[in-house]
Amino acid sequence: MEKKWWHQSVVYQVYPRSFYDSNGDGIGDIQGIISKLDYLQKLGIDVIWLSPVYDSPMDDNGYDISNYQDIAKEFGTLEDIEQLIKEAKDRGIKIIMDLVVNHTSDEHAWFIEAKKSKDNPYRDYYIWRKPNEGGNPPSDLESIFSGSAWELDDVSGEYYLHLFSKKQPDLNWENDKVVKEVFDMMNWWLDKGIGGFRMDVIDLIGKEIDKNIISNGPKLHPLLQSMNKATFGDRDVLTVGETWGATVDTAKLYSDPTRQEVSMIFQFEHITMCWDDEHGKWRPKPFDLIKLKEIFNKWQTGLGDQGWNSLFWNNHDLPRTVSKYGDDKNYRIESAKMLGTTLHMMRGTPYIFQGEEIGMTNVPFESIDCYRDIETLNFYRDKIAEGFTHEEMMVGLWANSRDNARTPMHWNESHQAGFTTGTPWINVNPNYTDINVEAALADENSVFYHYQKLIQLRKEMPVVVYGDFELLAPKDKQIFAYTRTLDDSKLLVVSNFSAKKTSFTYDKPVESCKTLLSNYSSTYDLKQPLALAPYESAIIQIG
Ligand code: NOJ
Repeated sequence: MEKKWWHQSVVYQVYPRSFYDSNGDGIGDIQGIISKLDYLQKLGIDVIWLSPVYDSPMDDNGYDISNYQDIAKEFGTLEDIEQLIKEAKDRGIKIIMDLVVNHTSDEHAWFIEAKKSKDNPYRDYYIWRKPNEGGNPPSDLESIFSGSAWELDDVSGEYYLHLFSKKQPDLNWENDKVVKEVFDMMNWWLDKGIGGFRMDVIDLIGKEIDKNIISNGPKLHPLLQSMNKATFGDRDVLTVGETWGATVDTAKLYSDPTRQEVSMIFQFEHITMCWDDEHGKWRPKPFDLIKLKEIFNKWQTGLGDQGWNSLFWNNHDLPRTVSKYGDDKNYRIESAKMLGTTLHMMRGTPYIFQGEEIGMTNVPFESIDCYRDIETLNFYRDKIAEGFTHEEMMVGLWANSRDNARTPMHWNESHQAGFTTGTPWINVNPNYTDINVEAALADENSVFYHYQKLIQLRKEMPVVVYGDFELLAPKDKQIFAYTRTLDDSKLLVVSNFSAKKTSFTYDKPVESCKTLLSNYSSTYDLKQPLALAPYESAIIQIG
């Protein structure tokens, strides 16, 4: 496989609204990010994925863009973003931008024009359909944010499609003018020296609505190939597609280097395995380690040279990993480190979501009034109307509301966790006095330094980047163990995913046994069974 710089990179996701507020308006901003670049450099990351900072009415916190070539005032200016690109580059960090082109905001100039009349030149930039015979929406397609995916436009009497909020009308990718506008815009950003794109719900752009094909449509891959050719194909960038329904086979279509589409995709099987078949994330299922191992094993061994994995536990749409797969009460530090080790030693490009590196947790908001996320608020309203009790719904929100990830970053133990001098747009998690960057930097045993070591190991050891993965003990209910092998070099990674002690026996001969990292500061000898304390996790070099 041809080597690429992003094979050995670690990406850090910044959710700008919640990262650091430099001007006291309660909202994080680009100057805030610039002022924290030294911190990110210290962590050792190579790339920042910046969630959207473009002009937007913020119905979905910026995933509803009203101008792709300008910056939302609350985040800063185009000069600020140019400064960010440059100052990051000076520290060896690339910026990848969020590309949200399945839809725009309804306040985008294209949509404002499109709504004016049926024969407006921009009408066909979006997807319009007549009402069905009874005057109802054209189909019963549902929005991912609840309710119908069709919204009536009173002026023309037609419906437009919005797979997300009604303020996020879907672009019509069957229109060549839309395709060209998007490609031009991408080149405009690439010319500014960005390091690539994270592509929002990219599997939806090939939809064929009249055939009821939404994701993974037949036009998707041809479109991605044209995009590659017209924009980033001859630039050395990282592109990662968000693809909720991806399987190992479809992942190869996106990321097989010979097909010239994208560098890698985000797959979500390890996330949705904890969702209920009927009520999805709002009725979470208990976490099943054996299933989790099966999923990772399939992805780790399945792509081979025909693709590249992305590795992540969290992002701005997901709960905090230490709360979901670890124990954020009794073993927060141990389990946060264990989860980092388990993920970072796999094959693929790891992504860290802001705050993960200090072990931030889900937020226990008691009142629905504290939530800000449109998806959470819509589903709370609709599920209660369907018969869920408030208490049942809160269990779902505490487990899976997107706001768990979106509370402000904890910088120190002062007012509002040092995030803002004003009032934050969403409450800070009350546990910031214990969990914050300043405390983590002052403690050599913190989660921060554990992540720093994980990143260093990837830089120093080709086996971490390119080694083959082999799952051990697939049916063990407490342990997640695997090896990575590259030529003569071999690593053993063992993690106890439970609060109970256990032991693990590596039953093959080993040439050497050197402990590279342990979350209990232990050293290990493989001649005896490894005794593992709650959430204990080790990286041992055995070749
Ligand atoms: C996926 C993004 O990650 C999410 O935050 C957003 O709401 C939807 N796409 C719609 O853009």
